[in-house]
Formats: sequence, C-alpha cells, structure tokens
Amino acid sequence: MEGGTSLFIQKFIQSPLQVGSLFPSSPALAEKMTTNINWQNINEAAELGAGTGVITRSIIKNMLPGTRLHVFEKDKDMRNRLQVNFPEGLYHEDASEIIKSLGSREGTLDAVFSGLPFSNFNKELRTKIVDEVYRSLRPGGILVAFQYSTLMKRTFQATFKEVDISFVPKNFPPAFVYLCEK
Ligand SMILES: C[S@@+](CC[C@H](N)C(=O)[O-])C[C@H]1O[C@@H](n2cnc3c(N)ncnc32)[C@H](O)[C@@H]1O
Repeated sequence: MEGGTSLFIQKFIQSPLQVGSLFPSSPALAEKMTTNINWQNINEAAELGAGTGVITRSIIKNMLPGTRLHVFEKDKDMRNRLQVNFPEGLYHEDASEIIKSLGSREGTLDAVFSGLPFSNFNKELRTKIVDEVYRSLRPGGILVAFQYSTLMKRTFQATFKEVDISFVPKNFPPAFVYLCEK
C-alpha cells in the first residue's frame, strides 16, 4: 500500500470525524475538483483539509507559476508530509482561522478548494468555516468543495451567488462536487 494511504487510514482510525473518510480521494475526484476552472484567473488560492495531498497535487499541476497556494491541514503528521512533498505551498493548521492565517486580509483569494468533512462538524464550526471561506474570497471567487452527501447544498446556496453540483461515482465513497461562486 502506498505510504500516503496507510497514513490516511491510520489517521481515520484515530480521528474518524476529523478525517471523514477511510481512504484518500481517487484520481477521478481530484480531476473533477480541478477541471472547469480558469487557472489564468487564479493568483492566490487555498486548499482546506489537504490530507495526504491527492488534490494538492492536482492543484499544483494546474496552477500557473507564481500562484500562491495556502494549504490547511489540521493533522500534524499529514501536514509534515505535505510540506515535504509540496514545498511550494504555504502551510497553516486550522481551516476555521483562514482570515487570521492570511494576515487579516479579506476578499483576496481567487479560489478555495475544500475536502473538509463539513457534515461531521457541529453547526457552529460549519458556520464559522463557511463564513471564513466567503470572507476570504474576492467577488467572483470560487469555492470548490467535495462532500459525500448533498447536506451542504442549502448552506452553500444561502451563502453563494451560484451553486453547481456534480456527482463523481468513481470514488469511495462516491462524492458530490460543489462549485460555488461568490
Ligand atoms: C476527507 S479528508 C480529505 C483529504 C484529502 N483532501 C483527500 O481528498 O484525500 C479531510 C481532511 O480534512 C482535515 N481537517 C479536518 N478538520 C480540519 C480543520 N479544521 N482544518 C484543517 N484541516 C482539517 C482532516 O485532517 C483530513 O485530512
């Protein structure tokens, strides 16, 4: 088994609610999270809940040279692994502190990519993170988030101007990708 996968499974067993799935995302989900995006317009972005970096790798492959990528991962071992594998990222611990991590800048990110298991969080944490994401994005900026259900549909629709949802069956568990525009 690939090293990232065994670390991921170990972390799921330790903290199932925080990690949210037994396996890292599939290449098909990583691909879906990073297509239909105009990378020419992305100068500064964030990824929330990067895990072992399946989606990080796809973001870095697509982003233009000079793009700043803030990577948030709460688990220290996974964050250390990400830092070694993707040294071009700027690393932070907690996705509920996006604005503080950006040096109190608001409305500056062009895109936020999220693998956070929102449905496992309590309402207060969910609301706080969605609010931080919204405030961190510029007008017209996008949130691309995967979830294993459509439970976040109403929250995203109540927050963002446009919300488009697609289904990715080739993932365990199958996933929904939300593309939300501020
Ligand atoms: C479902 S996994 C997704 C991992 C990876 N993006 C992937 O697609 O394989 C969710 C990740 O979010 C992280 N996470 C949970 N709460 C977080 C928080 N408040 N801030 C940063 N990361 C968090 C977990 O540690 C876990 O690595």
